[in-house]
Amino acid sequence: MMASREVRVVVVGCGGMGGVHAKAWQKIEGVKIVGCCDARSDIVDAFAEKFGVANKFKDLKKAAACDADVLDVCTPNSAHTPAVLAGLANKKHVLCEKPLAITPAEVVRMMDASRKARRLLMCAQHMRFDGVSQGLKKWIDGGHMGEVYYARAWHNRRRLLPAWGAFISKKASGGGPCVDVGVHALDLTMWLMGNFEPVSVSGVAPCKIAKKPGIYNTWGAYKPKDMEVEDFAAGFIRFKNGAALSLEASWMMNIHARSEAVTWVYGTNAGVKWPTLEIVEEKNGIITEGKIDNPPEAEGHEVEIVAFHDAVVNRKPAPVPPEQTLAVIKVLDGLYRSHKTGREVSLR
Ligand SMILES: NC(=O)c1ccc[n+]([C@@H]2O[C@H](COP(=O)([O-])OP(=O)(O)OC[C@H]3O[C@@H](n4cnc5c(N)ncnc54)[C@H](O)[C@@H]3O)[C@@H](O)[C@H]2O)c1
Repeated sequence: MMASREVRVVVVGCGGMGGVHAKAWQKIEGVKIVGCCDARSDIVDAFAEKFGVANKFKDLKKAAACDADVLDVCTPNSAHTPAVLAGLANKKHVLCEKPLAITPAEVVRMMDASRKARRLLMCAQHMRFDGVSQGLKKWIDGGHMGEVYYARAWHNRRRLLPAWGAFISKKASGGGPCVDVGVHALDLTMWLMGNFEPVSVSGVAPCKIAKKPGIYNTWGAYKPKDMEVEDFAAGFIRFKNGAALSLEASWMMNIHARSEAVTWVYGTNAGVKWPTLEIVEEKNGIITEGKIDNPPEAEGHEVEIVAFHDAVVNRKPAPVPPEQTLAVIKVLDGLYRSHKTGREVSLR
């Protein structure tokens, strides 16, 4: 069922992702971006002009209080929690960029506020929504895997450190590649495994390359002394049912590819690889190597916003359930704690 009434959206954080979301919102019939908010007036002015938005705000509390149905949060990570809570307190449905928060306690506060306000809360894990991911998930859910007992996921880059904005600031971002790209790899992989019951994590999150003077960065110059977060993280996660997952995330690693994001999910009957959709199966004593054909053509950010809009209009649960996001954030928070203590951390 499609919307009969208009859905009014306010975008908070008008940088890179604010623009990506705005484009997707504007493709949906019956949606109007009625407000935009950014800490920088030059950025909010340019955004308002580009997307034809009437109301401009510098203060997120004022943006959250304006007459709208949805607050779409695209600020740096540290502003997610205040923006999400302000939106929910003002009875807005809230979509928020990843990572939803840095600590599980913040996610729990958001979930409580969402229940109290009777409004949706969703983290923008767009990778679940692209055609390749949807095609693979459908195949896995078709029952071909047997028991899923292991997965490997990595999102590693060679010299692609995001040198703009707030990414290398611990205060503004809460972490480096672990919460930046690691959150994508982890969310996607746990979703493909169909397993959101992690019980422990052991991990490391050092900064090994990015602080070296004179280091080359494909994404532009930065001051190594400003690098406050890890440039590499790796973790080993155990699940309640005995399954396990190994995770790697890096902005700077000496690898062949400029950037490589891969997930392998292994079951007792089949192994599958994202995003190439390769399959290895044994059937009647014969090993076959195949490929899932014709996944739907879909751009993740756009489909994610269509799905969130559909949930708002048709009163459905959030397409990315906050309980699943909480499990993901528990793992990442545990990985950092494990790095600090040098021990496996229980998530129970
Ligand atoms: N899903 C994805 O593919 C993807 C890709 C990149 C970034 N992200 C996420 O999106 C978020 C934003 O990243 P970006 O690349 O757009 O960053 P960006 O620096 O391009 O934009 C962030 C904007 O927020 C503004 N801002 C900062 N604090 C604010 C506040 N308190 N109130 C209002 N505005 C504020 C900044 O001035 C800036 O214009 C981050 O959480 C990041 O992790 C997601």
